[in-house]
Amino acid sequence: METELPTIFSAKRTSYVRSSVIREILKLTVKNSDILSFAGGLPNPDLFPKDLLSSVMETVIRENVSIALQYGDSSGYANLRIQIVEKLTDVPWVSPSSITVTHGSQQGLDILGKIFMDSHTNVLLEDPVYLGALQAFSPYHPNFLSVPMESDGPNLYFLEEILSQNKIHVFYANPSYQNPSTYTWSVEKRIKIANLLDTYEIIFIEDEAYRYLDFDGKVYPSVSSFRKRNDLTFILGSFSKILSPGFRLGFVIVPELYQNLFTAVKQGNDLNSNQFSQVVVSKLLETMDFDFHLRSIQSFYQNQKEYLVYLLNQFLPEAKFSLPEGGMFLWVNYPKINSKQFMESCLKNGVAMVPGTEFSPSSRSSSYFRMNFSFLTKDVMEEGVKRIADVYRDINT
Ligand SMILES: Cc1ncc(COP(=O)(O)O)c(C=O)c1O
Repeated sequence: METELPTIFSAKRTSYVRSSVIREILKLTVKNSDILSFAGGLPNPDLFPKDLLSSVMETVIRENVSIALQYGDSSGYANLRIQIVEKLTDVPWVSPSSITVTHGSQQGLDILGKIFMDSHTNVLLEDPVYLGALQAFSPYHPNFLSVPMESDGPNLYFLEEILSQNKIHVFYANPSYQNPSTYTWSVEKRIKIANLLDTYEIIFIEDEAYRYLDFDGKVYPSVSSFRKRNDLTFILGSFSKILSPGFRLGFVIVPELYQNLFTAVKQGNDLNSNQFSQVVVSKLLETMDFDFHLRSIQSFYQNQKEYLVYLLNQFLPEAKFSLPEGGMFLWVNYPKINSKQFMESCLKNGVAMVPGTEFSPSSRSSSYFRMNFSFLTKDVMEEGVKRIADVYRDINT
């Protein structure tokens, strides 16, 4: 399902651009509404704070219009940066001036790629890895290396081998409820890896997009909080999963040394992040019971996860997965299948999932599939799992 990308007149870097099979599947499901899709990663719209939002937006228009509808500070709206420091970070060195509000955390990934990655820069990734990071970094044509993941984080034996044998410049990781695997690094591994990163002087890009999606409301300490080299540490956060992706707001904690550079590169991207969204989100955070809001997202997703687990156990016990502590996905191993054939048959049978190959830095074949549980109703999940089970049985009889 490759998308044709035009190459004749394009710059060389465009030949390294990766398309996203997830977006292609989303397009298919929009065209054909009979396809039930576990492929997306959409937050559930029932969790958007709609009522509060409409009153906050009215207030913003009445009272803050000259700020909200104007160009703004390239580093972000000052009030929001203070709230981010107070509510959404755990590293001791953070201050409002170290926060840059970005157009989704995805923009942070692109800017960091632009700043740190040249052709052949050694960049270490998790395997599997968040596909959007591959998309952001690939045009800079770094040399990707990857460390195999276990359910409690990177395999330390392989990690130490890689670090001792290669000069790794950047390590990008998504340690909590990772997309796609939902694996979460244990605190022990966080501490060990923070020390290794210090020893080998490696820039760490810690992606915290799912930080607050623990089903029990637990919040893991960031890996960065255990580092001594805060000059080599970048942390990405996002409002997409805890408020709404429609705001397109995220942030990056940037070490002092790189703040001017980061802002200058961002100015070349967009001058400043969506100012209206920033003022609205800031007012929302002032007004809402944020902890209560988080708790309702966490328990809603826990319930959805339990239902998908129940359905798979009931209708397809051959499917194997570890139970996630949080997040929006199950990472499911379907034994004895050819993943391409399985995916094509699933699509023909009106159900979509994302094949694990898409999340492999080297496009390695995989019998894992990412299944989203945050978005679908229970009825649709049930019908979807039954369709997958039918396809699986057809292939394996
Ligand atoms: C791991 C991870 N990082 C970053 C992002 C980008 O999120 P956003 O740009 O909406 O903040 C996503 C989106 O799904 C994600 O899964």
